[in-house]
Amino acid sequence: MTRRDFGKISTVAGLGLTWGMSRVHAYMDTPAGVSANDKIQVGLIGCRSMGWTNLMDFIRNNEVECVALCDVDSNILEERANELAAKSGKKPAVFVDYRKMMELKEVDVVIIATPDHWHCLPFVDACKAGKDIYVEKPLANSIAECDVMLQAAKKYGRIVAVGQQQRSGAEWLKIMELIKSGTVGEVKRINCWGNFKYGAGRPRVANSSPPPGVDYDRWLGPASERPFNANRFHGFWRMNWAYGGGLATDWGVHLLDMALWAKGDTGQFPQTVVASGGILRFPDHEIQTPDTLNVTFNYGDWLLSWEHNCGLESGPWNRNYGVSFVGTKGTIIANRESWELVPERKNNEPLTAAIPLQANQQNVHQPHVRHFLDAVRSRKQPECSIEIGHTAAVTAHLGNLAYRTGAVLSYDSVQQTFNNPEADKLIKPDYRQPYVFPTL
Ligand SMILES: NC(=O)c1ccc[n+]([C@@H]2O[C@H](COP(=O)([O-])OP(=O)(O)OC[C@H]3O[C@@H](n4cnc5c(N)ncnc54)[C@H](O)[C@@H]3O)[C@@H](O)[C@H]2O)c1
Repeated sequence: MTRRDFGKISTVAGLGLTWGMSRVHAYMDTPAGVSANDKIQVGLIGCRSMGWTNLMDFIRNNEVECVALCDVDSNILEERANELAAKSGKKPAVFVDYRKMMELKEVDVVIIATPDHWHCLPFVDACKAGKDIYVEKPLANSIAECDVMLQAAKKYGRIVAVGQQQRSGAEWLKIMELIKSGTVGEVKRINCWGNFKYGAGRPRVANSSPPPGVDYDRWLGPASERPFNANRFHGFWRMNWAYGGGLATDWGVHLLDMALWAKGDTGQFPQTVVASGGILRFPDHEIQTPDTLNVTFNYGDWLLSWEHNCGLESGPWNRNYGVSFVGTKGTIIANRESWELVPERKNNEPLTAAIPLQANQQNVHQPHVRHFLDAVRSRKQPECSIEIGHTAAVTAHLGNLAYRTGAVLSYDSVQQTFNNPEADKLIKPDYRQPYVFPTL
């Protein structure tokens, strides 16, 4: 079965909703995993920020035990190992080199929460080692890496969830149902935006020595050699092309993913992508990604847009970030905090009933992790399968490549080529020796 199998109707308890697409995706050849009685033993790679948040939502489930931690910053590694020991009474095994962690037979699941340029290699190695994987979004930092990860998950039959947690949100599911049932009419335009201060990075500072205890060469990994700079390091790597894609991939995948869900998860890429922007507000900051950006993705029969303005703290519909699903009868506006439906009007009469602002009740991350754990047991792929993560990440990268080349891009995902040689050069990163782009 693949993501294009739209057979089953699943019911969401409590909301009484149906959603026409199967919410689980299974591979015919997915090998057996942990048995129903066994604990699910987890190893975390990348422990500082989101990795730790993920792990906390894993171990709140009694059936999960964290047996290993890995980080290239030994300060963080030690601090997290102590915190975990205080919580669970057991000290995990600790590693600086994730490959050693992969050798542990008892590790069933790895969580990958490293910077984006460091998702692909551990992911493919985890597939080869027979682990199931919870990988953070965006799936990877380039189109070619996303592609090889998708192939690896399929070839080795692994259960994979991508950290686009809105996919497990009851309120988002309700919105999808409203759109699918035609409540807002035909949706021909979806706008996504994210105005976040952190996307502006910080003012430039001089390069320096890496902090004691940090294996900086390993942090760089497959990326080019480059002097250490505090404002390209922990948390701030996002705004440098070698490690991340700026707000367009960092927040873009979350919100573009909601648009792709609303349009039926066809797996299709846009016919053309055009972008415009620049580093317009923060020229003295340690950033390469644009602080101001507009992208238009043209799918032929509908338009998708992404917009960000780093430094602003408000935005369209009085929200600094969000999605508006613009239908012929009404528009649904949503973000993680709330949603509402604003009717379209004809001769001043509303074409559908308004739904006033609804505060979202649900923590979406805990159910997202729960769905992954269920998938590890059932051997059926979870809501946010690797295909879902792949399409969202590649779409977001298309926007960045349109910005970087200044061209109107068309991408042929079968031939893996663009209509533009400059964009072709950016499909696959050159891995720095001794790192080698993974083969399966
Ligand atoms: N789903 C979400 O809502 C969400 C939120 C925040 C971040 N994220 C994603 O999580 C990932 C991590 O982001 P972050 O904000 O936690 O970054 P971070 O810089 O705070 O932490 C990354 C950690 O990975 C470690 N690391 C780097 N290379 C490593 C390697 N080769 N092996 C082991 N450890 C390594 C670093 O030392 C650091 O501790 C990113 O992909 C990001 O996009 C997702």
